[in-house]
Amino acid sequence: MSSAVTSRTIETRVYDGQKPGTSGLRKAVKVFTQEHYTENFVQAILEALGNQLAGCTLVVGGDGRYYGKEAVGKIIRIAAANRVRKLIVGQNGILSTPAVSTIIRKYKTQGGIVLTASHNPGGPDADFGIKFNCENGGPAPDNVTNKIYEITTQLKSYKIASDINVDIDKIQTINVQVDGREFTVDVIDSVNDYLEHMKDIFDFSSIKSLLQGSSGRPAFKVLINGMNGVTGPYIKRIFSNELGVDDSSIVNTTPLENFGGLHPDPNLTYAKDLVDAIKNGPHDFGAAFDGDGDRNMILGKSAFFVTPSDSLAVLAANLNSIPYFKKTGIRGYARSMPTGAAVDRVAAKTGVKLFEVPTGWKYFGNLMDAGHLSLCGEESFGTGSDHIREKDGIWACLAWLSVIASLGKSVEEILLDHWQTYGRNFFTRYDYENCESEGANKMMQYIETEIQKSEFVGSKLTSAGKTYVVKLADNYSYVDPVDGSQANKQGLRILFEDGSRIIYRLSGTGSSGATIRVYVDSYEDDPTSFKKDAQEVLKTLVDIALELSKLREYTGRDAPTVIT
Ligand code: G6P
Ligand code: ZN
Repeated sequence: MSSAVTSRTIETRVYDGQKPGTSGLRKAVKVFTQEHYTENFVQAILEALGNQLAGCTLVVGGDGRYYGKEAVGKIIRIAAANRVRKLIVGQNGILSTPAVSTIIRKYKTQGGIVLTASHNPGGPDADFGIKFNCENGGPAPDNVTNKIYEITTQLKSYKIASDINVDIDKIQTINVQVDGREFTVDVIDSVNDYLEHMKDIFDFSSIKSLLQGSSGRPAFKVLINGMNGVTGPYIKRIFSNELGVDDSSIVNTTPLENFGGLHPDPNLTYAKDLVDAIKNGPHDFGAAFDGDGDRNMILGKSAFFVTPSDSLAVLAANLNSIPYFKKTGIRGYARSMPTGAAVDRVAAKTGVKLFEVPTGWKYFGNLMDAGHLSLCGEESFGTGSDHIREKDGIWACLAWLSVIASLGKSVEEILLDHWQTYGRNFFTRYDYENCESEGANKMMQYIETEIQKSEFVGSKLTSAGKTYVVKLADNYSYVDPVDGSQANKQGLRILFEDGSRIIYRLSGTGSSGATIRVYVDSYEDDPTSFKKDAQEVLKTLVDIALELSKLREYTGRDAPTVIT
């Protein structure tokens, strides 16, 4: 490649539907590989930066899925032509989503482009995604994604420096003159900055002695599963090199373009391998992460399942075992609206502020930037803190290990103690994936009409002899307390007098069809119920939810695809 190149302007045509969803633009690979499709979206992201674009630095990397490297090449060429000054690119195009957030913040860049479809399957016949993160390191808020979308609807051309070819498999710095201007690509180690950050946050030596065993305490056996996603290199460096676990304790740690055929979503259905291995194995603890490394699932011995809603509450109650929070103090907790309300009880008891936001990590960012929030989480297997502006799977795992090291108890004991103190919020989510959009939309309209009838509030819903009285029902809307921005139609809520809740939402992260999510949450303070199975305890409310929504009639589905 020559060290001086010139850019060109390429005429393009508008593609409909380049509207980012809950978390970026996510479509089938075959959609992204259409002529100019990816180029258009990248050009729109850059134009949306407005007067921040010229001379800016951006981070680029992704979860290693199919088409990722090709997309990095395109981004480099388009960024160069659009007067970006520098790109910081993960080696092999690999950067976990939490690592991108870390790097944006550490080097104070104007943002980053994350190439991921998160937990969706990868490969030529599966999904790809492009997401823009802003200078705070978090996913772009609605006003930015709307602007990007606006631009895609009017785009006539994009700019590209086609002669730039950077070997991103090699750690190196490349300088090129583009149209007479200096342009730099810095290919960096994918793990270093993130590892350093984790070492600042946690006490690695106490986690290490837990894992290795010390002063008469046997080694605490873990099984960490990267699901063939981006976390592999991070797991190897952190758990093998730093914390000294042996190779049999880490699995699926090579990022594969198709995730080895796995659906890289850490839940009881898609991480069944991990669940079975732990059920039958000697492990005290298991963790799995999704494709881009921001989600986590935590299991205890014999595959004791920690729901994400409980995970958030337990961490909230024990944040003082983590050095980072000793330094920063605890500013507030937050959860997404459908997330089980366990953390609310910790907040109430400890006098810490609690925020409820719509689904989507972007809604936590403003609260963190304004200093209102330390720890937050979502039922969708996301847990994180204000150390970055994304949820963080490995962070959650290290946080759990810190709590275990400090309390000296098993995962199950920790949960039982927690419920003794706070009572237990039973939570479940039923997913109906890939439904026909028309039926799903009609169902949502039907429910909304039903719950907005004036006689609905105060009415009694009964199943199997149990009666729930409706206290409030609406289509959830949110006003950001920091900037006053408003998000409407974020899910249909039915709240009952006893604190139980039923929520219906359409997923915003699918790439085709509609995924219906039904969330059910109910509180028990009777200690004899604490060990009960959530499905058993919630069965009545689930039946009420399915009946009220006429879900079977509208979708033709008898059973959910996934239950969490
Ligand atoms: C991503 C987002 C989360 C969100 C989840 C589920 O992981 O980062 O914030 O909770 O998707 O979103 P969905 O719209 O599919 O329910
Ligand atoms: Zn993810």
